[in-house]
Amino acid sequence: MSIWRVQGGYPLDGSLTIQGAKNAVLPILAACMLADSEIELTNVPRLRDVEATLDILRHLGCQVQRREDVVAVDARSVTGCEIPRALTGRMRSSIIFLGAVLARCGQARLAMPGGCELGPRPVDLHLAAMEALGATVRCEDGVIVCAAPALTGADMTLETPSVGATENAMIAACAARGITVIRNAAREPEIVQLQGFLRALGADMDGAGTDSITVRGFTPVKRVGWRVMPDRIVAATVLCACAAAGGEVELRGVCPDHVRSVTETLTAMGAQITAGQRRIAMRCAQRLRGGQTIITRPYPGFPTDAQPLMMAASLRAAGQTVFVENIFTDRYRHAAQMARMGADIRISGRVALVTGRERLTGTDVLAEDLRGGAALLIAGLGAEGETVVRDPGHIERGYEGLDRALSALGAHIKITE
Ligand code: UD1
Repeated sequence: MSIWRVQGGYPLDGSLTIQGAKNAVLPILAACMLADSEIELTNVPRLRDVEATLDILRHLGCQVQRREDVVAVDARSVTGCEIPRALTGRMRSSIIFLGAVLARCGQARLAMPGGCELGPRPVDLHLAAMEALGATVRCEDGVIVCAAPALTGADMTLETPSVGATENAMIAACAARGITVIRNAAREPEIVQLQGFLRALGADMDGAGTDSITVRGFTPVKRVGWRVMPDRIVAATVLCACAAAGGEVELRGVCPDHVRSVTETLTAMGAQITAGQRRIAMRCAQRLRGGQTIITRPYPGFPTDAQPLMMAASLRAAGQTVFVENIFTDRYRHAAQMARMGADIRISGRVALVTGRERLTGTDVLAEDLRGGAALLIAGLGAEGETVVRDPGHIERGYEGLDRALSALGAHIKITE
C-alpha cells in the first residue's frame, strides 16, 4: 500500500503540462484490435490502468512496445478472444474490449470486470449494444460469452448515454456490415477522440459529440499514428488543488472547453481564471465562497469524476455548497474520510451538503477509489499539519506522478510504500 504524506498550508505556484487522458487512451488501445498494421500512439500516460490494458492486448496476442510516452501496438498477431479474471479484475474498463474482440475474432469471452466500487456498475447496456449488432450474449459463471460470426449494422438507442457502451458500440459497428446508428449516445470529449482515431484507422463515421453517431463502414488504413488528448479530469484536479491550497497555477496543453463546467464553478466561488489556447491560468488569493449547487450530469454537464475533487475544494469555502450526484449511486465515500479531517458534510441519498469550515486538520485517511483518493490529497493541501492518505493503489490508476507534479508547484507531498 502506498502512503501519501501531505503537509498542508503551502500555496501552489507554477505551471504544469497536463498528461494524456486515461479515459481516452483505454478505448483507443482496445480499438487497435481493428487495425491490420502497426499503430503508434503518443502522449500515452504511465498509469496502472494503461499497463493493465497493455497486458490484455499482449494476452490476446498483440505485439506491444512502450518507449517513454509512445506505445506501438500491432494486432496482426492476435491469437485469442478470451480475457481471464486475472486481467479483467484489475479494472472495470476492461469491458471496453468486448466490442473490439468481438469485431476482430467473431467471438469474445470476458470475465466480469473489476475496478472502482462506486455502487452497482452493470454492463447491461454494453451487452444490449452487442445484441443489437447481431451477437448472441450469455453469462456463464461470471464470464460474458459473446458470439457473432458476422456483425450487422443496426439502429439502436441506448437506455442511458453510457460512455463505455457508446464506445463499445462504435468499435464493434466498424466491423458490421451495413449502417449503424447509435442514438442517445454519450457526448463526452473522449467519444469525439475515439471517433477521430477510428476515422484515422479507416472508419466512415460521424456524429460524435452529438447524441447520434452513425457508422457506415470500415476500410483499414496502413500505419496510423495518433496523439492522445489531454486529461480533463487531471486538469480539474490541479485546479481544485489550487482552490484548496491557494496560489497561482498555469495549466498547459489543456483543452479549456473540456473543463468549462469546472472552471465556471470555481470562478463563481471567487477564483480568478483565464483561458487561452490550450492554456488555463488560475489565481486563488482569498478564501473561496460557497453558495453553489453542483449537479453531476453527462457532458457537457459537471463531470461525476470531478465531484470529489470539487468537494475537497469546497470544504473551507465560506458558506454552504450543495452537491447532487446523478451518475453513480455510491460516490460519496470520500466524505466520511473528509469528515475525519474536520469537514462538515451531511449526506442524504444523492445530495451532499458541505458547510465550509475555516480550518481542517490533517489526519490519517483512506483512499477508497481513484478520484476520492485524489480528493483527499487536495483536502490535505488545505489542512493544518500532516494528512496521511493510505492508498491501496487507486490514485496511480489514473495519475502519472501526481506527487511530483504537485510538489513541483510547491506542495509538500511524499509517497512511501
Ligand atoms: C466512464 C469513465 C468514468 C466516468 C464515467 C461517467 C472511462 C474509462 N471511465 O465510465 O471515469 O466516471 O464514464 O462519466 O471512460 N450503466 C448501466 N449499464 C451499463 C453501463 C452503465 O446502468 O451497461 C450506468 C452506470 O452504472 C452509471 C451510468 O450508466 O450509473 C454511467 O456510466 P458509464 O457512462 O457507462 O460510465 P463508464 O463508461 O463505466
